[in-house]
Parts: sequence; C-alpha cells; structure tokens
Amino acid sequence: MTGAQEWLGRVGQNWAAEWERTDRSFAALTPHLLAAIALEPGRRVIDIGCGAGELSIALAAARPDAHLTGIDISAELIDAARSRAGDQVNLSFAVADAASWQADDAAPDLYVSRHGVMFFTDPPAAFAHLASKAAPGARMVFSCFRPASENLWATEIARLLPPGKPAPAADFPPGPFAFADPDQARRCLQGWRDVTFQPLDFAYVAGSGANPVADAVSFFSRIGPAAAAIRTLPDQARAAFERGLLELVQSRCVGGRVCFPAAAWLVTATADNS
Ligand SMILES: C[S@@+](CC[C@H](N)C(=O)[O-])C[C@H]1O[C@@H](n2cnc3c(N)ncnc32)[C@H](O)[C@@H]1O
Repeated sequence: MTGAQEWLGRVGQNWAAEWERTDRSFAALTPHLLAAIALEPGRRVIDIGCGAGELSIALAAARPDAHLTGIDISAELIDAARSRAGDQVNLSFAVADAASWQADDAAPDLYVSRHGVMFFTDPPAAFAHLASKAAPGARMVFSCFRPASENLWATEIARLLPPGKPAPAADFPPGPFAFADPDQARRCLQGWRDVTFQPLDFAYVAGSGANPVADAVSFFSRIGPAAAAIRTLPDQARAAFERGLLELVQSRCVGGRVCFPAAAWLVTATADNS
C-alpha cells in the first residue's frame, strides 16, 4: 500500500531523486496518453499528481494557448519538476493535495494525470472535490495500472518474497493498483459521468545503458515493491531476495534493456456538474 503519507516521506523523496529512471519506466505509455489528451479541448489544464512533471512539460509545449498547472503532494517532486521545466510561460507547479486543492483563478476545464490518481485516502471524496472545482462539463483523462496479475514488473518481484510475507501489491486502494478494477474505479469517480476505459500495454523499462542489469537492480532497490522488501527483510531473507532479483532481471534483459510487461487503463470522464 502506498498512500499520501508515503509520498510525503521516503517514497516521494526517492521518486524525486530518481525522476530520470521513473520517467524512463513510463516512457512507452506517455505517447498514448498524449494522443488521447490531444483529442480533448481545454485551456486551463491541471496535471494531478504530476510528480517530476514530464506530462505537464510536454503538454505546455504542445498547447501554447493553454495554461498548465502541475500539482503534487510531494514538495521534493515539485522541486524536481520546477528545476527541469525551465521558463515555459504557460506552465506552473504547486505543492497541493488534490483532494483539497483550490484553483487560484479560473476553474479548470481539463484534468490529466499519468498514474497520479491512485493514492488518495478517500478516492470518492477526492474525485467529487475535483469535479466541484471544475468548469461545467470539464473533461478528465488519466492513466492507471490494470491488475497486478497483468503487470509482471510487480508480480514477478512479489514472487521472490519469502512465504508468508504479504504481497506488496494488492488490487485495493490506495496504491498502484487501486483502479485496476473498472467497477471499483467507477465507484471512486464520484461527480464524473461518461467514464470510459481503454486498455494499453507497454514495456516498463527498468534498466538500460552500459550495464542494464546493474541499472535495473539499482532502480528496483530504490523504487517499487523490491525497495520496500530490501529495506525491511532480515539479513538472510534479504540476501536471498537480492539473489532472486538479480536472476529475474538477468532473465528480462534483452537487446540492451531490462523490460517487463506492464498494463494500464486509459480512463476518460466528464464532470457531472453542468
Ligand atoms: C506514480 S507517481 C506518478 C508521478 C507522475 N505523474 C509521473 O508520471 O511520473 C504518483 C504521484 O502522485 C502523487 N500523489 C499521491 N497522492 C497525491 C495527492 N493526494 N495529491 C496530489 N498528488 C498526489 C505522488 O506524490 C506522486 O508524484
């Protein structure tokens, strides 16, 4: 489970330090998300849980007539986003909890997010809040993971954990798989109608460069379910887990990259406020 407290602490700090590698892991998903967003009108655009800002920065460049605001609960991630954004005039960032965020001026007419909406403590309340702050009939486009069973970057690592240790990835909120089940996601999307789900498969890149295997082991030691296991397992179990992780990553190294199958939903919805 990864909730707001984790993002405010160690998880957010690690993602801020590792933004180049976390961006790489989602890179194959981003063009699909950008193509879906390009179909939507919107001049006041909010990127929810923007992290280090890759989607916000790309959208600000693609939509010079729009204003993009990236919001994130983690101050470290917003610092990372600001430091890489440069001086795009139609782009700003703010530290805010999306569940209580207030618009500075005009109401947003488009919310977007790349995997930033699955961590709310009370998802129905958070989505109802976002709808209440939106312009009439505002649109929303976001990506989120499909079930853990279709995301082998999570399940293959979970299988390396000692028996009896609860799997780090569950299909329940809050966490990466909170919206894996469309019925559950629809129940969370209070204040939104016309909800659609489109499946997208992509390669989750965990390692590349001169030594992709070492790169992937180092990445997983900092980000995701393996990082938590390495931090919390007793010495002997940790050594066995690390041996298993190395073998797993070696088995997934093809053509100079370590990749795992990953599965996402592309979700669209309309604010039910007009
Ligand atoms: C999986 S990361 C995705 C980050 C970014 N969208 C990307 O694609 O790299 C989830 C993000 O959601 C943010 N987040 C979690 N809970 C939040 C909340 N209640 N309000 C705003 N941001 C939140 C985290 O700090 C983190 O940056």
